[in-house]
Amino acid sequence: EQGAQRYVPDGAASIGELREAAAGCRGCHLYRDATQTVFGAGPAHARVVLIGEQPGDVEDRRGAPFVGPAGKLLDRAVEQAGLDRADAYVTNVVKHFKFKSTDTGKRRIHQNPNRAEMTACMPWLAAELHLLRPRVLVALGGTALKALLGPSATVSGARGVLMPWPGAAYQPELFAADGAAQLLATIHPSAVLRAVDRDALYEGLVADLRLAVAALR
Ligand code: URA
Ligand code: SF4
Repeated sequence: EQGAQRYVPDGAASIGELREAAAGCRGCHLYRDATQTVFGAGPAHARVVLIGEQPGDVEDRRGAPFVGPAGKLLDRAVEQAGLDRADAYVTNVVKHFKFKSTDTGKRRIHQNPNRAEMTACMPWLAAELHLLRPRVLVALGGTALKALLGPSATVSGARGVLMPWPGAAYQPELFAADGAAQLLATIHPSAVLRAVDRDALYEGLVADLRLAVAALR
């Protein structure tokens, strides 16, 4: 359990190859309680990559990213922003669901991944980005933004503008050859679901996503 790197196949030629290898990852302790690895999904030619935090309860059961309530909201926002879903690859910083069971064991409560778990899992995201070479990265929420920019980055400080992604400068050992992408930070769709002021947050998410769409033209 010393990180995902030794599970990432050298010179992988496809996302499918990565996904297969990730299914057996034991790079950190999170594989033990989760049902399965939830790898990224989307077309190999995707020009935009949407990055969340980690799979939730529904994703853990179904084995696909953003297919639960947050995913439904994200689908709607993406479409409303004018993004062709066929152009988007969707993934997470951490590939296993982290949770705490309730006392009765009936419900599984999402827990935020910590820094060590994020670091352990990052080689998978790096390998995905290396193969996809997208034009635009969308960080959905603070975990994704910190993974891409560093621990002091905040969504409130970074959202709403498209910036050049300094991937190679930030972590050369992970992102050596990946330079040209633009980065857009926005809120996590789950934050919209939790908010009192849902409509306003939702409109903000759509407005941010429109900037990503504009960068693809
Ligand atoms: N939240 C995430 O960050 N990712 C998912 O895949 C689902 C919910
Ligand atoms: Fe591997 Fe990531 Fe799962 Fe940890 S969370 S076991 S590093 S795939």
